[in-house]
Amino acid sequence: MKLTGRDWLMAAGGMALIGLLALGSEKGRGKNVPLDERHKPLYDAMKTGRTQAATELVCATCHGQSSIPLPDKHPPKEQCLICHLFRAST
Ligand code: HEC
Ligand code: HEC
Repeated sequence: MKLTGRDWLMAAGGMALIGLLALGSEKGRGKNVPLDERHKPLYDAMKTGRTQAATELVCATCHGQSSIPLPDKHPPKEQCLICHLFRAST
C-alpha cells in the first residue's frame, strides 16, 4: 500500500487526538506525590512492599484537618494514591 499525503494527514490527526485524550485524563488528577524529604519515607515504604492502603493512612497524619489542609475544592479524599501518583523514578 502506498502512503498518500492524505494517509499521513489521517495519521497526524490520530496522533493529535490521542495526545488530547491523554491530556484530558491528566485533568482531575492531583499532582504527583512530591519526592522530597517529607515524602521520601513513603516512597521507601512502597518499595519495600507496603500496601497502598497502608501507605495512604500515613498521608492523613500530615494532610489532615489540622496541619496541611487539603484545598477547599478537593475531591472526595480516600485513596490518595489513585489520583496522586508516586513518581516513577525514585
Ligand atoms: C511527614 C508529613 C507528610 C506526609 C506523611 C505526607 N505529606 Fe504530602 N506534603 C507534606 C508537606 C509539608 C507538603 C507541602 C510542602 C511540600 O511540597 O513538601 C506536602 C505536599 C503534598 C502535595 C502537594 C505537592 C505540590 O506540588 O504542591 C501532595 C500532592 C501531597 N503532599 C500528597 C501526599 C500523599 C498522597 C501522601 C501519602 C502517600 C503524603 N502527601 C504524605 C507533608 C506530608
Ligand atoms: C479523586 C482524586 C483525588 C483523591 C482521591 C485525592 N486527591 Fe488530592 N487532589 C486532587 C486534585 C484534582 C487536586 C487539585 C485540586 C485543586 O487544585 O483544588 C488535589 C490537591 C491536593 C493537594 C494540594 C496540592 C496541590 O496539588 O495543589 C494535596 C496536599 C492533596 N491533594 C493531598 C491528598 C491526600 C493526602 C489525599 C488522600 C487523603 C488525596 N489528596 C486524595 C485529586 C485527588
